[in-house]
Amino acid sequence: MTMPTPQCPWRMQVHHIRQETPDVWTISLVCHDYYPYRAGQYALVSIRNSAQTLRAYTLSSTPGVSEYITLTVRRIEEGAGSQWLTREVKRGDYVWLSDAQGEFTCDNETNDKLLLLAAGCGVTPIMSMRRWLAKYRPQADVQVIFNVRSPEDVIFANEWRDYPITLVAENNATAGFAVGRLSRELLTQVPDLAARTVMTCGPAAYMEWVEKEVKALGVTRFFKEQFFTPVAEAATSGLKFSKLSAMKTFYAPVGSTLLEALESNKVPVNVACRAGVCGCCKTQVVSGEYSVSSTMTLTEQEIADGYVLACSCHPQGDLVLA
Ligand code: FES
Repeated sequence: MTMPTPQCPWRMQVHHIRQETPDVWTISLVCHDYYPYRAGQYALVSIRNSAQTLRAYTLSSTPGVSEYITLTVRRIEEGAGSQWLTREVKRGDYVWLSDAQGEFTCDNETNDKLLLLAAGCGVTPIMSMRRWLAKYRPQADVQVIFNVRSPEDVIFANEWRDYPITLVAENNATAGFAVGRLSRELLTQVPDLAARTVMTCGPAAYMEWVEKEVKALGVTRFFKEQFFTPVAEAATSGLKFSKLSAMKTFYAPVGSTLLEALESNKVPVNVACRAGVCGCCKTQVVSGEYSVSSTMTLTEQEIADGYVLACSCHPQGDLVLA
Protein backbone atom coordinates (compact mmCIF):
# COMPACT_ATOMS: atom_id res chain seq x y z
CA MET A 1 0.00 0.00 0.00
CA THR A 2 1.64 3.22 -1.10
CA MET A 3 1.99 6.42 0.86
CA PRO A 4 -0.78 8.81 -0.21
CA THR A 5 1.31 11.96 0.33
CA PRO A 6 4.77 12.68 1.74
CA GLN A 7 3.02 14.70 4.43
CA CYS A 8 1.60 11.50 5.91
CA PRO A 9 4.47 9.01 5.88
CA TRP A 10 3.43 6.96 8.91
CA ARG A 11 1.40 3.89 8.09
CA MET A 12 -0.55 2.58 11.05
CA GLN A 13 -2.91 -0.33 11.38
CA VAL A 14 -6.20 -0.16 13.21
CA HIS A 15 -6.04 -2.54 16.17
CA HIS A 16 -9.47 -1.80 17.61
CA ILE A 17 -12.08 0.92 17.86
CA ARG A 18 -13.96 1.77 21.03
CA GLN A 19 -17.02 3.93 21.41
CA GLU A 20 -16.47 6.48 24.19
CA THR A 21 -19.75 8.39 24.18
CA PRO A 22 -22.78 8.55 21.88
CA ASP A 23 -20.78 10.55 19.31
CA VAL A 24 -17.10 9.94 20.08
CA TRP A 25 -14.89 6.97 19.19
CA THR A 26 -11.27 6.13 20.00
CA ILE A 27 -9.33 4.45 17.21
CA SER A 28 -6.33 2.48 18.48
CA LEU A 29 -3.49 2.18 16.01
CA VAL A 30 -0.38 0.07 15.86
CA CYS A 31 2.69 1.64 14.28
CA HIS A 32 5.31 -0.90 13.36
CA ASP A 33 8.05 1.73 13.58
CA TYR A 34 8.84 4.01 16.49
CA TYR A 35 6.55 7.03 16.13
CA PRO A 36 7.88 10.02 18.06
CA TYR A 37 5.31 12.34 19.61
CA ARG A 38 4.75 14.41 22.71
CA ALA A 39 1.75 14.35 25.03
CA GLY A 40 -0.86 16.81 23.73
CA GLN A 41 0.33 16.92 20.11
CA TYR A 42 -1.78 16.21 17.04
CA ALA A 43 -1.25 14.57 13.66
CA LEU A 44 -2.72 15.02 10.23
CA VAL A 45 -4.61 12.01 8.96
CA SER A 46 -4.95 11.26 5.27
CA ILE A 47 -8.69 10.73 4.87
CA ARG A 48 -9.55 7.74 2.68
CA ASN A 49 -5.81 7.51 2.12
CA SER A 50 -5.98 10.45 -0.25
CA ALA A 51 -3.40 13.18 -0.81
CA GLN A 52 -5.98 15.95 -0.94
CA THR A 53 -8.04 15.49 2.18
CA LEU A 54 -6.06 15.78 5.39
CA ARG A 55 -7.56 16.41 8.79
CA ALA A 56 -5.87 17.16 12.08
CA TYR A 57 -6.69 15.04 15.15
CA THR A 58 -5.18 15.05 18.61
CA LEU A 59 -3.13 12.01 19.51
CA SER A 60 -5.10 11.11 22.61
CA SER A 61 -2.61 8.47 23.70
CA THR A 62 0.50 9.18 25.76
CA PRO A 63 4.05 8.40 24.70
CA GLY A 64 5.73 5.92 27.00
CA VAL A 65 2.43 5.07 28.68
CA SER A 66 -0.22 4.00 26.18
CA GLU A 67 -0.07 0.64 24.48
CA TYR A 68 -1.46 2.02 21.22
CA ILE A 69 -1.39 5.30 19.38
CA THR A 70 -4.93 6.59 19.61
CA LEU A 71 -7.08 9.15 17.86
CA THR A 72 -10.26 10.18 19.64
CA VAL A 73 -12.74 11.56 17.17
CA ARG A 74 -16.13 13.22 17.48
CA ARG A 75 -18.45 12.29 14.62
CA ILE A 76 -19.49 15.47 12.89
CA GLU A 77 -22.35 15.48 10.44
CA GLU A 78 -20.84 15.99 6.99
CA GLY A 79 -17.33 15.85 8.47
CA ALA A 80 -15.36 14.04 5.77
CA GLY A 81 -12.69 12.92 8.23
CA SER A 82 -14.80 11.99 11.22
CA GLN A 83 -17.45 10.18 9.18
CA TRP A 84 -14.79 8.03 7.56
CA LEU A 85 -12.89 7.33 10.76
CA THR A 86 -15.93 6.55 12.90
CA ARG A 87 -18.15 4.77 10.37
CA GLU A 88 -16.04 3.10 7.73
CA VAL A 89 -12.59 2.40 9.08
CA LYS A 90 -12.41 -1.14 10.47
CA ARG A 91 -10.04 -3.24 12.48
CA GLY A 92 -7.05 -4.22 10.32
CA ASP A 93 -7.34 -1.22 7.97
CA TYR A 94 -4.39 1.05 7.37
CA VAL A 95 -4.40 4.75 8.13
CA TRP A 96 -1.64 7.22 7.22
CA LEU A 97 -0.52 9.89 9.68
CA SER A 98 1.84 12.86 9.49
CA ASP A 99 4.62 13.53 11.94
CA ALA A 100 3.24 14.69 15.27
CA GLN A 101 2.83 18.44 15.42
CA GLY A 102 1.91 21.24 17.79
CA GLU A 103 3.28 23.00 20.83
CA PHE A 104 0.43 22.29 23.23
CA THR A 105 2.29 19.98 25.58
CA CYS A 106 3.31 19.87 29.22
CA ASP A 107 6.60 18.03 28.90
CA ASN A 108 8.68 21.21 29.09
CA GLU A 109 6.62 22.74 31.89
CA THR A 110 8.63 22.98 35.09
CA ASN A 111 5.83 24.23 37.36
CA ASP A 112 4.61 21.34 39.50
CA LYS A 113 1.22 22.94 40.07
CA LEU A 114 -1.09 22.64 37.10
CA LEU A 115 -4.73 23.19 36.31
CA LEU A 116 -6.02 21.43 33.19
CA LEU A 117 -9.34 22.71 31.85
CA ALA A 118 -11.21 20.85 29.15
CA ALA A 119 -14.58 21.09 27.45
CA GLY A 120 -16.10 18.42 25.21
CA CYS A 121 -13.68 16.79 22.79
CA GLY A 122 -11.00 19.23 23.97
CA VAL A 123 -10.31 16.68 26.66
CA THR A 124 -8.22 14.57 24.26
CA PRO A 125 -4.88 16.42 24.67
CA ILE A 126 -5.71 16.99 28.33
CA MET A 127 -5.98 13.24 29.00
CA SER A 128 -2.78 12.64 27.04
CA MET A 129 -0.99 15.12 29.27
CA ARG A 130 -2.65 13.90 32.49
CA ARG A 131 -1.30 10.39 31.97
CA TRP A 132 2.11 11.80 31.07
CA LEU A 133 2.23 13.87 34.26
CA ALA A 134 1.19 10.88 36.36
CA LYS A 135 4.03 8.81 34.95
CA TYR A 136 6.83 11.35 34.57
CA ARG A 137 5.96 13.99 37.22
CA PRO A 138 4.22 11.94 39.91
CA GLN A 139 4.96 14.66 42.44
CA ALA A 140 3.00 17.27 40.45
CA ASP A 141 -0.21 18.66 41.90
CA VAL A 142 -2.59 18.45 38.95
CA GLN A 143 -6.20 19.61 39.09
CA VAL A 144 -8.60 18.91 36.24
CA ILE A 145 -11.99 20.46 35.49
CA PHE A 146 -13.88 18.86 32.61
CA ASN A 147 -17.04 20.39 31.20
CA VAL A 148 -19.53 18.21 29.30
CA ARG A 149 -23.03 18.67 27.93
CA SER A 150 -24.40 15.78 29.98
CA PRO A 151 -22.93 12.94 32.06
CA GLU A 152 -23.02 10.47 29.16
CA ASP A 153 -20.61 12.73 27.27
CA VAL A 154 -17.64 12.13 29.55
CA ILE A 155 -14.89 10.88 27.25
CA PHE A 156 -12.49 8.40 28.96
CA ALA A 157 -15.03 8.09 31.80
CA ASN A 158 -13.43 4.96 33.30
CA GLU A 159 -9.92 6.27 33.14
CA TRP A 160 -10.79 9.54 34.82
CA ARG A 161 -11.59 7.52 37.97
CA ASP A 162 -7.81 7.21 38.43
CA TYR A 163 -7.29 10.96 38.76
CA PRO A 164 -8.72 13.79 40.84
CA ILE A 165 -11.20 15.60 38.64
CA THR A 166 -14.12 17.98 38.85
CA LEU A 167 -16.79 17.10 36.31
CA VAL A 168 -19.27 19.75 35.26
CA ALA A 169 -22.42 18.90 33.29
CA GLU A 170 -24.64 21.46 31.63
CA ASN A 171 -27.65 19.13 31.49
CA ASN A 172 -28.98 16.26 33.59
CA ALA A 173 -26.18 16.51 36.15
CA THR A 174 -26.17 13.43 38.36
CA ALA A 175 -24.24 12.66 41.56
CA GLY A 176 -20.58 13.49 41.11
CA PHE A 177 -21.20 16.35 38.70
CA ALA A 178 -21.25 20.08 39.35
CA VAL A 179 -24.19 21.66 37.58
CA GLY A 180 -23.85 24.11 34.70
CA ARG A 181 -20.67 25.40 33.15
CA LEU A 182 -17.23 26.27 34.34
CA SER A 183 -17.69 29.36 36.49
CA ARG A 184 -15.56 31.86 38.33
CA GLU A 185 -16.80 30.28 41.54
CA LEU A 186 -15.44 26.86 40.54
CA LEU A 187 -12.13 28.39 39.53
CA THR A 188 -11.72 30.19 42.83
CA GLN A 189 -12.19 26.86 44.64
CA VAL A 190 -8.96 25.55 43.05
CA PRO A 191 -6.23 25.80 45.70
CA ASP A 192 -3.31 28.09 44.77
CA LEU A 193 -4.94 29.01 41.49
CA ALA A 194 -2.67 31.98 40.73
CA ALA A 195 0.44 29.85 41.20
CA ARG A 196 -0.68 27.23 38.70
CA THR A 197 0.11 26.76 35.07
CA VAL A 198 -3.26 26.61 33.34
CA MET A 199 -3.67 24.62 30.13
CA THR A 200 -6.98 24.51 28.32
CA CYS A 201 -8.59 22.95 25.28
CA GLY A 202 -12.16 23.19 24.05
CA PRO A 203 -14.35 25.31 21.79
CA ALA A 204 -12.90 28.73 20.95
CA ALA A 205 -15.48 30.66 22.97
CA TYR A 206 -14.82 28.48 26.03
CA MET A 207 -11.06 28.99 25.80
CA GLU A 208 -11.52 32.74 25.38
CA TRP A 209 -13.64 32.85 28.52
CA VAL A 210 -11.15 30.72 30.45
CA GLU A 211 -8.25 32.93 29.42
CA LYS A 212 -10.00 36.09 30.52
CA GLU A 213 -11.12 34.64 33.85
CA VAL A 214 -7.94 32.91 34.95
CA LYS A 215 -5.81 35.91 34.04
CA ALA A 216 -8.16 38.13 36.04
CA LEU A 217 -7.67 35.71 38.95
CA GLY A 218 -3.91 36.14 38.82
CA VAL A 219 -2.74 33.25 36.63
CA THR A 220 0.38 34.20 34.67
CA ARG A 221 1.24 30.91 32.95
CA PHE A 222 -1.58 30.17 30.54
CA PHE A 223 -1.61 27.97 27.44
CA LYS A 224 -4.41 27.03 25.08
CA GLU A 225 -4.59 24.73 22.10
CA GLN A 226 -4.51 27.02 19.08
CA PHE A 227 -5.91 24.34 16.84
CA PHE A 228 -9.51 25.51 17.12
CA THR A 229 -9.58 28.84 15.36
CA PRO A 230 -12.70 30.94 15.57
CA VAL A 231 -14.21 31.84 12.23
CA ALA A 232 -14.86 35.57 12.11
CA GLU A 233 -17.94 37.21 10.66
CA ALA A 234 -17.57 38.23 7.02
CA ALA A 235 -16.43 41.85 6.75
CA THR A 236 -18.05 44.35 4.41
CA SER A 237 -15.05 46.65 4.12
CA GLY A 238 -11.29 46.55 4.61
CA LEU A 239 -9.02 44.59 2.32
CA LYS A 240 -10.69 43.50 -0.88
CA PHE A 241 -10.20 40.02 -2.34
CA SER A 242 -11.23 38.97 -5.82
CA LYS A 243 -11.35 35.28 -6.56
CA LEU A 244 -11.25 34.92 -10.32
CA SER A 245 -12.20 31.22 -10.51
CA ALA A 246 -15.32 31.84 -8.41
CA MET A 247 -16.04 35.30 -9.83
CA LYS A 248 -16.41 36.43 -6.25
CA THR A 249 -15.34 39.53 -4.36
CA PHE A 250 -15.14 39.67 -0.59
CA TYR A 251 -13.58 41.63 2.25
CA ALA A 252 -11.64 41.05 5.44
CA PRO A 253 -10.25 43.39 8.09
CA VAL A 254 -6.67 44.64 7.76
CA GLY A 255 -4.46 42.25 9.74
CA SER A 256 -6.39 39.08 8.74
CA THR A 257 -4.54 36.15 7.28
CA LEU A 258 -5.62 35.04 3.85
CA LEU A 259 -7.11 31.93 5.48
CA GLU A 260 -9.22 34.04 7.83
CA ALA A 261 -10.39 36.07 4.85
CA LEU A 262 -11.39 32.93 2.94
CA GLU A 263 -13.06 31.16 5.85
CA SER A 264 -15.01 34.17 7.07
CA ASN A 265 -16.44 34.50 3.57
CA LYS A 266 -17.12 30.77 3.21
CA VAL A 267 -14.75 30.43 0.28
CA PRO A 268 -13.83 26.71 0.15
CA VAL A 269 -10.26 26.05 1.30
CA ASN A 270 -8.61 22.88 2.57
CA VAL A 271 -7.18 23.30 6.01
CA ALA A 272 -5.60 21.13 8.65
CA CYS A 273 -2.66 22.43 10.68
CA ARG A 274 -3.32 26.19 10.42
CA ALA A 275 0.35 26.66 11.12
CA GLY A 276 2.11 26.63 7.76
CA VAL A 277 3.19 23.02 8.11
CA CYS A 278 0.87 20.69 6.22
CA GLY A 279 0.49 22.52 2.92
CA CYS A 280 -3.27 21.86 2.74
CA CYS A 281 -4.28 25.49 2.30
CA LYS A 282 -2.14 26.18 -0.78
CA THR A 283 -3.70 29.05 -2.71
CA GLN A 284 -2.52 31.02 -5.75
CA VAL A 285 -2.31 34.79 -5.59
CA VAL A 286 -2.40 36.47 -8.99
CA SER A 287 -1.60 39.98 -7.85
CA GLY A 288 -1.30 42.14 -4.74
CA GLU A 289 1.10 42.71 -1.87
CA TYR A 290 1.54 40.17 0.89
CA SER A 291 4.11 38.74 3.26
CA VAL A 292 4.40 35.09 4.29
CA SER A 293 5.46 33.49 7.55
CA SER A 294 5.87 29.98 6.11
CA THR A 295 6.49 28.51 2.68
CA MET A 296 7.02 24.98 3.95
CA THR A 297 5.88 22.35 1.41
CA LEU A 298 5.89 24.89 -1.48
CA THR A 299 8.42 24.42 -4.28
CA GLU A 300 10.46 27.33 -5.60
CA GLN A 301 8.43 27.19 -8.79
CA GLU A 302 5.16 27.38 -6.87
CA ILE A 303 6.42 30.36 -4.88
CA ALA A 304 7.47 32.04 -8.13
CA ASP A 305 3.98 31.34 -9.50
CA GLY A 306 2.38 33.15 -6.56
CA TYR A 307 1.35 30.14 -4.48
CA VAL A 308 1.09 30.80 -0.74
CA LEU A 309 -0.08 28.92 2.30
CA ALA A 310 -3.25 30.82 3.13
CA CYS A 311 -2.83 30.30 6.87
CA SER A 312 0.63 31.88 6.69
CA CYS A 313 -0.12 34.64 4.18
CA HIS A 314 -0.54 38.18 5.51
CA PRO A 315 -2.09 40.44 2.87
CA GLN A 316 -0.68 43.97 2.83
CA GLY A 317 -3.35 45.28 0.46
CA ASP A 318 -6.08 44.07 -1.88
CA LEU A 319 -5.39 40.67 -3.46
CA VAL A 320 -6.52 38.95 -6.61
CA LEU A 321 -6.68 35.16 -6.24
CA ALA A 322 -6.70 32.59 -9.02
S1 FES B 1 -3.48 24.67 6.99
FE1 FES B 1 -1.59 23.62 7.04
S2 FES B 1 -0.29 24.89 5.91
FE2 FES B 1 -2.07 26.03 6.09
